[in-house]
Amino acid sequence: MYVPVILGTGREGRQSEKVARFILSEAAARGFESEILDVRDYAQKATDNTGKTAAARKLAEKVKNAAAVIIVSPEYNHGYPGELKMMLDLCYGEYAGKPLGICGVSSGPLGGARMVEQLRLVAVELRMQNMREALYFSSVQDMFDDSGAIKDKEAWGRRTKKFFDELSARTARGG
Ligand SMILES: Cc1cc2nc3c(=O)[nH]c(=O)nc-3n(C[C@H](O)[C@H](O)[C@H](O)COP(=O)(O)O)c2cc1C
Repeated sequence: MYVPVILGTGREGRQSEKVARFILSEAAARGFESEILDVRDYAQKATDNTGKTAAARKLAEKVKNAAAVIIVSPEYNHGYPGELKMMLDLCYGEYAGKPLGICGVSSGPLGGARMVEQLRLVAVELRMQNMREALYFSSVQDMFDDSGAIKDKEAWGRRTKKFFDELSARTARGG
């Protein structure tokens, strides 16, 4: 089953990339076929909902083939990054019925919780299946060692299990 991980910020020096790589490895460990879909590769000058550009066609194909979608995104000024929204807006119908798992990232204590709630509202319009479970990566700058490994393996093992259990159950019953 193909479950892509959308990385929601292209910011230079982004900490969220470490989280996206961690989630990618957790997905692979559970047998999902996965890859990171980086907003940098879908960057637009302006919103494009024609569905005709190469970026739009590429994203539509990937979302169409996905059993579920995971978004890893930081919280910027209590919302989701604009570039993530512009990427998501490249397609529409392909999202329908797909489970969506959201991982929030922040340098502060809340792990992007406000961004997660806002993104869930967008997912309603995209007719995705909002998951109850979400992951909140707070103080992200202290979370990984120099090799990119997560420091508190035990706690994150528990949290990711709950997240992927729900995602697996939803994909198994087709959303
Ligand atoms: C434009 C901007 C706005 C931000 N706003 C918030 C915020 O509202 N809440 C928060 O917890 N962190 C905020 N941060 C800090 C991020 O949590 C921090 O950069 C963290 O490392 C995750 O983002 P990154 O992937 O860009 O590194 C903001 C960072 C930027 C660049």
